[in-house]
Amino acid sequence: MLKHKVRRIGVLTSGGDCPGLNAVIRAVTKKAIFEYGYEVVGFKDGFEGLLFNRHRKLSENDVSGILTLGGTILGTTNRANPYKYPVESKSKVEYKDLSQQAINNLRKLKIDCLICVGGDGTLSTAHRLSCQGVAVVGVPKTVDNDVKGTDVTFGFDTAVHIATEGVDRLHTTAESHHRIMILEVMGRTAGWIALYTGVAGGGDVILLPEIPYDVSEIAQHIKTRKRKGKHFTILVVSEGAKPIGGKVTVQRLVKDGSEPIRLGGVSFVIGQELEKLTGIETRNVVLGHLQRGGSPSPFDRILGTQLGSKAVDFIAQGHTGCMVGVRDDHFVKVPLSKVAQGSRLVPLDHSLIQDARALGICFGRQARHSPLFGDGQ
Ligand code: F6P
Repeated sequence: MLKHKVRRIGVLTSGGDCPGLNAVIRAVTKKAIFEYGYEVVGFKDGFEGLLFNRHRKLSENDVSGILTLGGTILGTTNRANPYKYPVESKSKVEYKDLSQQAINNLRKLKIDCLICVGGDGTLSTAHRLSCQGVAVVGVPKTVDNDVKGTDVTFGFDTAVHIATEGVDRLHTTAESHHRIMILEVMGRTAGWIALYTGVAGGGDVILLPEIPYDVSEIAQHIKTRKRKGKHFTILVVSEGAKPIGGKVTVQRLVKDGSEPIRLGGVSFVIGQELEKLTGIETRNVVLGHLQRGGSPSPFDRILGTQLGSKAVDFIAQGHTGCMVGVRDDHFVKVPLSKVAQGSRLVPLDHSLIQDARALGICFGRQARHSPLFGDGQ
């Protein structure tokens, strides 16, 4: 709870960018100035700006015309965790806890409350700062839609639109060439993008990190389709998909990153195996950062606006140490301690999985073998 009168608030965007961040920055700034008369300070490049005093005052003019822009006018980074900040000494990287430096800077700048816009990593950091006495309000963002405590994050809708257009385009070429086409989408541990894109695009096979796959089962599905006269197959695959008992496909390790593993390439692995097992020519596309770039969808512009606006209301009402979440179409206060508990995965009994299975969509493993039915993996 904020005990004194709020005069100045800070805002930062941290972690991977996503469409809708500017809508939040705009809403925070305008609402804070117009409705509450607060001053707003924007930190550059997430916690990096907080640690090294790179910030600027945000005025109405600064945020005018940014609603439709992708990315973030404040910049961001996923390499500046104040509790594990990479410091180079004698050509070696050591990780240091610089959180006190961040807290001191907030005090020097007389920031009464900090709005942290980010995914699970950023919001966990926000939680730690809040435990050290910093007044913080979180706003959930990520294309992955996997933040705990909220039904939806902005960025997700835009990513699904882009990926679905990808599936639509792959459909026509797959059908013409009688090929297997695999679209690899983002989603390290949570398969929301693959699930929604697969269903929206009419994919034939959807692979999620939550359901380890059996490639021979997928091959069987493709052969059955062929027997029924369908000579092509579309797969929508999360980057975090993995075979039963197997591992995720790592594309690279990011030096200095507090989360160093970057996934990518599982569609190559699956493609080669399927080509061998079915004899059908296979191609794959890794959609990557196209899902995160460009203009936000109307839904994400609206959600970003509402979340930013609510975050400022929370501050005015004295609520901190919490995130603005969406529950059953209402905006709710979610304790950051709950948000910091990990990622929100796709539940195996999600109705969309059940509906998709009922339509004959293959998830790489039959429902009766899934953990829900009690046989392990
Ligand atoms: O968390 C968002 C996300 O886009 C993931 O889906 C993806 O695995 C990761 O970020 C990519 O990170 P980077 O932008 O550092 O390559």
